[in-house]
Amino acid sequence: MKREQWGSRFGFIMAAAGSAVGLGNIWKFPYLAGTQGGGAFLAVYLIIMATIGAALIMAEIAIGRAAKKNPVGAFRALGGSLWSTTGVIGVVTGFMILSFYSVVGGWTIAYLVKSVAGTIESAQPELLEAQFGGLVSAVWEPIFYHGVFMVLTMGIVIAGVAQGIERSVKVLMPLLFILLMVLVVRSVTLPGAWEGIEFFLVPDWSQVNGEMLRAALGQAFFSLSLGMGAMITYGSYLDKDADIPNASCWVVFLAALVGVLGGLLVLPAVFAFGMDPGAGPGLTFITLPAVFGEMIGGYVFQIIFFAMLLIAALTSSISLLAIPVAYFAEEYGIERKWSAIVVGILIFLIGVPCSLALGVWGEYKLFGMNFFDLMVYAVDNYTLPIGGILTSLFAGWVVLEKMGKELSNDGSLNFKWMAAFTWIMRIVAPLAVVWVMLSGLLGS
Ligand code: PHE
Repeated sequence: MKREQWGSRFGFIMAAAGSAVGLGNIWKFPYLAGTQGGGAFLAVYLIIMATIGAALIMAEIAIGRAAKKNPVGAFRALGGSLWSTTGVIGVVTGFMILSFYSVVGGWTIAYLVKSVAGTIESAQPELLEAQFGGLVSAVWEPIFYHGVFMVLTMGIVIAGVAQGIERSVKVLMPLLFILLMVLVVRSVTLPGAWEGIEFFLVPDWSQVNGEMLRAALGQAFFSLSLGMGAMITYGSYLDKDADIPNASCWVVFLAALVGVLGGLLVLPAVFAFGMDPGAGPGLTFITLPAVFGEMIGGYVFQIIFFAMLLIAALTSSISLLAIPVAYFAEEYGIERKWSAIVVGILIFLIGVPCSLALGVWGEYKLFGMNFFDLMVYAVDNYTLPIGGILTSLFAGWVVLEKMGKELSNDGSLNFKWMAAFTWIMRIVAPLAVVWVMLSGLLGS
């Protein structure tokens, strides 16, 4: 059977940017910036994105296109069976991320439904907190919405790479940008917004510390979907004439832009209404609805916000599901449709204890963490960094020549950054990630 391909360059960039832009940028980035010192965090994040992030995304796409296979098959084809373990880590990580990602995606659907129904207690912050806590700790409601989210994800992936993924992201991503712009304009024009803009954009360098650097590097990896084979999978459907460095830069630019816009949406509004920017994970589900509750036209803006968050989550979840689906389809010859259904159901089932861990199963702990936190922790601190180190060492030391050919399309493009790429892959990225992991383990 002929391998599927993206229909156009625009389609590929939208798909890859869709994978990158997700809950990570709109939900996590603003609250990280809020707790990690605002402008300085943003500056460090952008520097990492433009260097290590850009190089690694090029490497992943190049590995995918060179091998035209799922991550396990790709590492095996290019580097032998020992290296295929790196792909296995990626497939497992895809399972893990999607199982908790889909639970949060489910909350987004729940909040969208409640926003339309007008049942979010926006007028009273204490009630909002209780409402969010009530949703996530309930038994059936979050599991139901987690199921709905998985069904949507599976539906798109089953329809295929060009017919499902590409067709949907070509509509959804531009829509996301429009909705986001509407919200940002509203937020930065609120009276009192300036303080938030300043907090977010003007770096206070005294805020730079080990914890912040760790958070910025982890966030750069997660928000570019690196270290677990998503970009290898998407790259494997790319045609041989596509300009990988150019497309990669677009994806990095768009992901960083949405992070910045996400910050400009959330933080000025939070400051304008005198709320706490360091509220943490509850910022988008508790603090923002409180802001909408006080805003003229807040009902409409709230619907726009949760619709946008859902789109961001979906265009990422399809890239997560696409990895194991490609793996089972290619390595075991299972038809794509069945592969998507079986894997989707499995991920749904792993998501159930993730969801219950925030409520009735909260007391079951391993290493002091409930199941949800454990999954997030394992991914952030172990599987993504290890996947990232192995991928960069592979690109820099094992298949560097091949990388050069892919990035320059066999010499027909002039790729000026090969020396920088080589340095980053061989030394800078692995060392940076090892340092981050060790300093995290030693708790400094
Ligand atoms: N990049 C996505 C986000 O920021 C998350 C993601 C990670 C998606 C890894 C795919 C692979 O939300």
